[in-house]
Amino acid sequence: MKAINGTIKKLAATLCTEGLEPLPAGLAVGLGLFIGVVPIYGLQSVAAIGLAILLGLNKPLTFAATFINNPFLQPFLVLGSIECGSVLRTGAFLPLRLSGFTMAAARGDLLLWAIGSVPLGAAAGVAGGAIAAIAVAWLRPCRRNLRARIRFVNGVFASAPNFDRGFVRWKMRLDRIFALLDAEGLGAGAVVDLGCGYGMALCFAAFGQEGRPLAGCDLDAKRIGVAQKALAGCDAKVEVGDVRRYPLPPAGLILILDVLQYLSAEEQLALIGRCCAALEPGGKFVFRVHDRERGLRSAMTMLFDRLIFRIGNAPSRPLVLASAAYREALEAAGMRVRTRRFRNLLPLAHILFVAERPPLERAP
Ligand SMILES: C[S@@+](CC[C@H](N)C(=O)[O-])C[C@H]1O[C@@H](n2cnc3c(N)ncnc32)[C@H](O)[C@@H]1O
Repeated sequence: MKAINGTIKKLAATLCTEGLEPLPAGLAVGLGLFIGVVPIYGLQSVAAIGLAILLGLNKPLTFAATFINNPFLQPFLVLGSIECGSVLRTGAFLPLRLSGFTMAAARGDLLLWAIGSVPLGAAAGVAGGAIAAIAVAWLRPCRRNLRARIRFVNGVFASAPNFDRGFVRWKMRLDRIFALLDAEGLGAGAVVDLGCGYGMALCFAAFGQEGRPLAGCDLDAKRIGVAQKALAGCDAKVEVGDVRRYPLPPAGLILILDVLQYLSAEEQLALIGRCCAALEPGGKFVFRVHDRERGLRSAMTMLFDRLIFRIGNAPSRPLVLASAAYREALEAAGMRVRTRRFRNLLPLAHILFVAERPPLERAP
C-alpha cells in the first residue's frame, strides 16, 4: 500500500511540475484555452490531455485551461464565435439578440459558430498563454530571490542623492547581468569588485550574507563617495583607486564588470592573472566584456562604448580582446572556465566569463 501511495504521489508531483518553464506553461494554457473555445463538446478533455502528452506540455495546466468553457462564460464564447463567424463569412456582425445567448439559437448558426470559434479560440489562446508565461516567469522561485536581492540593493541606496539612486534603480531593473549573477550563485567569502562604480554588485552579492566582507575600488571619486555612504552598514571597504595597482586581498568572489576595456591588452591580461592568484580554492572570478564575435551587434556595442568613453573623457579607446585570449589566460592560471554570451535589453552583445578555482583535493 505504501509503495502504491508513493508511486501515486510521485506521479502527481511529476504531472503538476513538468513543463512549468514560462514558454511551455504559456503554450499549455494557450492550447487549453483554444480547445475550450472550439465547439468539440465531449472531446475537449480528451483532446487537451492527448495533445499535451503529444507536445510534452503540462497536462493539468492544459486541462484546467479548457474550463474557460464553463456555464458562466459559455454564452459569451458561443455568441462571440457566431459573431466572428458572421464577420468572416458575410463581412458583417449579426444583430445582437438576447436569444443569441441560448444554445438553441446557437444550433441554428452551427456553421458560423464553428468558423468563428477558431479565430476567437486562437486569440484567447495567444492572450491567455502570454499572460500565463509572464506570470510564471514572474512567480518562479529564482525570480523571487532575484527580486528580493534587487529590493535589498534599492533599499541600501534609498538615501543616496536622487540622480544616483535613480541610476542604481534603473541599472538594477534593466541590466540582465544581475539575473545572470543571481542564477550563477555568488559563492561565499570576501567579495572584491574592481571598477565597482557605485558598488551595486558588491551590495547585490552581500544580500543574505550579513557581515560578508566587501572591497572595491574605482577611479570615480563621486561614485565611490556614494558607495561609501550607502554601504556604511556593511563590512565594506571601497576606495578611490586604480584597478591596475589595487592590492587584491584573498577573495571568494572577484567581479570586474565592464572595466577591462579601459586597460591595454597587457594590463588586462596581467590583472586577470592577479585575480586568479588572489582567488581562494572554490572561489569564482566573474567578468563581463563585450562580445566581439556578434557581427552588427558587436559593432553597435563598440560604438556605444566609444560614446561612453567620449562622454567620460577617457584617455584611450575601448579595447576588447578576442574571447579566446581571455579563456587562454584563465586556463593558464589553472581555472575552470565557462562563458555565457548574452544580449541586454539594449541590443548590446556581452560575454560573461565565469572562472572557478578548483577546490582543494581532500587528503584520502
Ligand atoms: C562602465 S562603468 C562600470 C561600473 C561598475 N562595474 C558597474 O557595473 O556598475 C566602468 C567603471 O570603470 C571605472 N574605471 C575605468 N578604468 C579604471 C581603472 N583603471 N581603475 C579603476 N576604475 C576604473 C570607471 O571609473 C567606471 O566607473
